[in-house]
Amino acid sequence: MKIISSIDELRDQLRGQLRTAFVPTMGNLHEGHLSLMRLARRHGDPVVASIFVNRLQFGPNEDFDKYPRTFQEDVAKLEREGVYVLFAPTEKDLYPEPQEYRVRPPDDLGNTLEGEFRPGFFEGVCTVVTKLFSCVQPRVAVFGKKDYQQLMIVRNMARQFALPTEIIGAETFRADDGLALSSRNGYLSADERAEAPVLYRELNAVADTVRSGERDIKAVEARAMAALAERGWKPDYVSVRKRIDLQAPNGADLERGEPLVVLAAAKLGATRLIDNLEI
Ligand code: PAJ
Repeated sequence: MKIISSIDELRDQLRGQLRTAFVPTMGNLHEGHLSLMRLARRHGDPVVASIFVNRLQFGPNEDFDKYPRTFQEDVAKLEREGVYVLFAPTEKDLYPEPQEYRVRPPDDLGNTLEGEFRPGFFEGVCTVVTKLFSCVQPRVAVFGKKDYQQLMIVRNMARQFALPTEIIGAETFRADDGLALSSRNGYLSADERAEAPVLYRELNAVADTVRSGERDIKAVEARAMAALAERGWKPDYVSVRKRIDLQAPNGADLERGEPLVVLAAAKLGATRLIDNLEI
């Protein structure tokens, strides 16, 4: 595997490649990330991964400095997956001057759910993904459903800008107890780790209730939030949305059997976890 930090060297290395499959990450790789590498390999060749902790998508009170950086371990894992190039730019490589031009998603998608609790987050994601795509020029790029809203925003962005990159969604990789793998799981104490699968359990409870025909979505959401709060969680949201646009379903949507997804974010101790489940 070639490890490349400069944009020019990356371009030289990938010149003429028309079937590149790309997996952008922020490192601290786990089996969820590696499952994306395997999916990428089914959709293209060569597979290019990136590791870049993108300051633009962290809020002032978020964990940019503390974000886990495990570069040597990550390299070994990517080697084993047969990744051809790892693009690992420094901040100077990717942002040699202040990144004043930005890509901003529409308010209805960018300022709801995660966007409501992390202002500017999706602008930071869209900006870095656009720039990474410009460096790698992939034919396909793989994103996890774990970050459901991110996947949808990136997919819509690629479509509206007619980017030559097809966005592929990968299923969420879970531990045996249901907890979605995440770099932030490493922040959990042993007790918190034992409690963490409750988030996914609550999502399943919401999905079951909605599937059984419950029409009072607000009440279902409130019950799930209360159940989490009772166990010591600090939920930001538990929200049933339409898969197509992540807006709240109305009565007609529910009657029509509109495809839905339930999304949640909640703090367990100091660690904020997110998860979602298609209903
Ligand atoms: P990061 O959190 O490192 O995630 C990289 C990719 O791995 C994302 O597409 C994410 O959805 C996926 N992923 C994480 N955990 C997963 C799991 N348990 N199962 C399946 N996929 C999983 O998301 C980012 O980085 C950044 O926002 C990025 C897109 C790289 C832009 O900076």
